[in-house]
Amino acid sequence: MTNKVIATIVGARPQFIKSAPVSRALAGHFREILIHTGQHYDHGMSDVFFEEMNIRKPDFNLGVGGGPQGEQTGRMLIEIEKVFAAVKPNCALVYGDTNSTLAGALSAAKAGIPLAHVEAGLRSYNRAMPEEINRVLTDHVSTFLFCPTDVSVANLEKEGISRGVHQVGDVMYDALLHNLELARGRSQILPRLGLKPGGYALATVHRAANTDDRNRMHSILEGFANLKTRVVFPVHPRTRKMMQEWGMSVHSNVLLIEPVGYFDMLILQENSNCILTDSGGIQKEAYLLGVRCITLREETEWVETVAAGWNRLVGVDTQSIVETHAAWQPQTERPPLYGNGHSAEKICRILISSLE
Ligand code: UD1
Ligand code: UDP
Repeated sequence: MTNKVIATIVGARPQFIKSAPVSRALAGHFREILIHTGQHYDHGMSDVFFEEMNIRKPDFNLGVGGGPQGEQTGRMLIEIEKVFAAVKPNCALVYGDTNSTLAGALSAAKAGIPLAHVEAGLRSYNRAMPEEINRVLTDHVSTFLFCPTDVSVANLEKEGISRGVHQVGDVMYDALLHNLELARGRSQILPRLGLKPGGYALATVHRAANTDDRNRMHSILEGFANLKTRVVFPVHPRTRKMMQEWGMSVHSNVLLIEPVGYFDMLILQENSNCILTDSGGIQKEAYLLGVRCITLREETEWVETVAAGWNRLVGVDTQSIVETHAAWQPQTERPPLYGNGHSAEKICRILISSLE
């Protein structure tokens, strides 16, 4: 155990999942201070992951949820700066591409604290996505860039970043391997919803480009309505709000449910006949679980899942969604794309040797 302090900043659902294996690896080597920005705050979007994955209670909860992009990020910056001044960490650790990521990154850069970015180098090359801005800026102020894939290393190279870059694999694979058996033992979601393995498709939609565009959202829901299968759709709060605002309902084959915990989500994914999503993490999980994925976007950061033949970028056109679900089955093997399930340990070893 060193006396070095690592300040981890999380705030959104996928970050709780990504941080769990890394925090486990860091324990015993570093003193970790956990900062929850409060970006996600409903029980089903936050606490459930801490409970299921045994993540300890955050040392600080900044209570910054909701609000427009700039305001949300700005309020986080103000609060994180105060925590950094009090805690004086030796390193700050951020995950992915949310506003919590960018706020943690900028706060660290301005305070002169070395910054580690897990999931560095991902690019959609679509600057209209708030996440793309968050990723690019975070990478450019990072000291340690932990890339999940070769493509992400190459993306950084194109932007002139090679120092501090480490290809470590994907911590989401670590999380999946650690939790899948537990989930199989504990989740009751299939009997609770009356579902049979293979008897339904699983859908998630939460990207602003989809939820905040009435035509795109309508086209997606029409697609779900016309699938020749039941569709289980755990609805993100952003999506629920917009569907309510526009008075949108779903066809009787679509089962709307509240967001579920990680265990139930793994089981719902593993047993579905297809996943339809605009989520980043779920595209990877579909691949890792061997379930075909229809991505409701025009581009993706996770290009290797498409190249491997298990992910189709279908966009939101109703007919394309329906036809792809009806006619497409991947025929190829699934080469290991996301490491060997020990990414968190690799990250920890690099931090130990660099921060000592
Ligand atoms: C955020 C991330 C996105 C990530 C997603 C994971 C940014 C720019 N976006 O999007 O990259 O894929 O998280 O799920 O950081 N809300 C609730 N309850 C909650 C959480 C959110 O009601 O527990 C509401 C908020 O008040 C807000 C809306 O949902 O009105 C959107 O939340 P926000 O965190 O701003 O963005 P996400 O769409 O969740
Ligand atoms: N997830 C979950 N319950 C849900 C929806 C998603 O546990 O109802 C998990 C999912 O399995 C994955 C992560 O949340 O591990 C993905 O998060 P999300 O889709 O919100 O964000 P993104 O990956 O697009 O940033």
